[in-house]
Amino acid sequence: MSTYLYQMEPAFDDDDVEEVAECVRSSWVIEAQRTAAFEQAVAEYVGAACAVAVPSCTIALAASLMALGIGPGDEVIVPDLTFVATANAVSLVGAKPVLVDIDPQTLGLDPIALEQSLTRRTRVVMPVWFNGRAPDMAAIMALARAHGLAVVEDAACALGSRCCGQHAGTFGDLGCFSFNTTKIITTGTGGMVVTDDPELRERVERLKNHGRLDRQDYHPVIGYNFHFSDLLAALGLAQMRKLPARVVWKRELYSWYARRLEAVPGVTMLPLPEGACPWYPDVFVDEPAGLRAWLEERGIQTRLYFPPVHTQPCYQAEGDFADTAAVSRRGIWLPAAAYLTQADVVRVCQAIIEWQEQRR
Ligand SMILES: Cc1ncc(COP(=O)(O)O)c(C=O)c1O
Repeated sequence: MSTYLYQMEPAFDDDDVEEVAECVRSSWVIEAQRTAAFEQAVAEYVGAACAVAVPSCTIALAASLMALGIGPGDEVIVPDLTFVATANAVSLVGAKPVLVDIDPQTLGLDPIALEQSLTRRTRVVMPVWFNGRAPDMAAIMALARAHGLAVVEDAACALGSRCCGQHAGTFGDLGCFSFNTTKIITTGTGGMVVTDDPELRERVERLKNHGRLDRQDYHPVIGYNFHFSDLLAALGLAQMRKLPARVVWKRELYSWYARRLEAVPGVTMLPLPEGACPWYPDVFVDEPAGLRAWLEERGIQTRLYFPPVHTQPCYQAEGDFADTAAVSRRGIWLPAAAYLTQADVVRVCQAIIEWQEQRR
């Protein structure tokens, strides 16, 4: 009996265990020195001036919007193809997420559709690096600057991804990352805001700490508890040491799948752009739910692409979302856990080939 292949599983080693144990032994489990070191490690890795750790990427996105003063009456542009958290972060601050179709080549915001969606209430553009692929950041930044809009990048799934040599999350005013358990490195749950703007950094710091910059009981502005924890940071620091190797490995994994599937009729993969690091190898087929069931029967877990946000019961929206709908209808993510071997990939690809053959 072959082992069950999960679509994604966190990967830990003795180094992770030791770092967390050391933190527990120190009894410094609130946010303290380890969190500061983790923030510094992420800022240095992505090439940002500063980073602020928060409990999740959803909170990172919402705190970024709060730092920009976004609230009721404001509109924020969000791609229709994303995990629902992108839109939810906008709703959390009382603003309106305006859903926009994607470019099927980048799987990110379509700049033409973006421009057509601008209104006098638009304040922010929130491009998503979907599965580590860069949206057209040059066009998006040019449009945003021309219209006086701020840019908050949802780089939840893009740690390790670059475009033109520049890291995800560092093109806009603020960038946000996730460290939940499905990510390339994980702290269980966790998020990070990066920015080059010291004023925005200070606002996020205040927002996460009840409106203050220290632990005194004096609160110049309203803030909340978006603190991180040194327990999470201990794990994050150990995981950061594995990140460079995992980025190389993720690209290799994608290539293993691409090489074995390129000649299979009815199965397509997108090219792997220079610098991009798609964490989940994704393929496009005409009946992903059927493929999913076939693979599950063979002990292989997959995940279907997200339904377009405009179809979610909580966001029912009208509009032209043809490209998101077409991509979402065909996309499926294949196993991507860090322990996969080439033999596992051969097994998955063989099962996909058999699925195609028995349908002829
Ligand atoms: C594109 C995108 N944005 C935001 C999030 C939210 O991240 P978190 O779970 O850290 O809140 C996710 C989660 O996977 C995501 O995929």
